[in-house]
Amino acid sequence: MEITFRIRRYNPEGGNKKPFWQEYTLKDVEETNRVLEMLHRVKWEQDGTLSFRRSCSSGICGSDAMRINGRNMLACKVLVRDVVRGPKNTIQVEPILGLPVLKDLIVDMEPFFAHYREVMPYFINNDPLPADGRERLQSQEDRAIFDDTTNCILCAACTTSCPSFWANGKYVGPAAIVQAHRFIFDSRDQGWKDRLSILSEPNGVWRCRTIYNCTPACPRHIEVTRAIGEVKLAIQRGKREGIIDPESIPAKFHE
Ligand code: SF4
Ligand code: F3S
Ligand code: FES
Repeated sequence: MEITFRIRRYNPEGGNKKPFWQEYTLKDVEETNRVLEMLHRVKWEQDGTLSFRRSCSSGICGSDAMRINGRNMLACKVLVRDVVRGPKNTIQVEPILGLPVLKDLIVDMEPFFAHYREVMPYFINNDPLPADGRERLQSQEDRAIFDDTTNCILCAACTTSCPSFWANGKYVGPAAIVQAHRFIFDSRDQGWKDRLSILSEPNGVWRCRTIYNCTPACPRHIEVTRAIGEVKLAIQRGKREGIIDPESIPAKFHE
């Protein structure tokens, strides 16, 4: 089949300093081709200036999240037949929203990763290792509690589909909460109080208004809104039981 790509272009260093739409026609496209492969064909066969991120082409690295026909997806996981529209078999592609566009489909991910770092996304346990030198053991039931949120690949599809994040980029965003959830609910981790304190501050979980764009946007099928709800409940429980002391919130999160 023949398809038409309608792609949002932007190059602040080129002659045209404003974003604009550009169309490309591709022939001999199989309906089972992936959108990422077709973007490669545009770049390699027609326009080498087209810029986008990709690495694994297998839904693992999380680098090619983009807005395809108005919805966030990984271009490497989407088949042409599932997104072509209209008489010209059109596929519209834009950069994800809410982060500064650097060029074409490439956004500046630093604000996203800054929020990720805020939640201390690493294992904390200062106790000595077990005497037998083995790893810190955990029951299968305890592991299952955060199994879903271990699947996050930090693609940003959830955070950049969230209207609360579009309205206020200081909101830590669903991806950072998913990452925090993975450690907060790990029975071996000792940093959960700090993480709950961080997420109880004004730009933490309470900026989530349960709009639910994030869950269908997740290419790993993580129940993002559910994870956020579980963190909200943990904060409420922590406050009720006097575990979370508002004064314990690190000063850098007060602004
Ligand atoms: Fe991507 Fe899903 Fe992780 Fe959000 S939760 S960053 S959508 S993998
Ligand atoms: Fe945003 Fe998802 Fe909450 S879309 S408002 S983080 S449920
Ligand atoms: Fe790695 Fe798509 S290129 S997830």
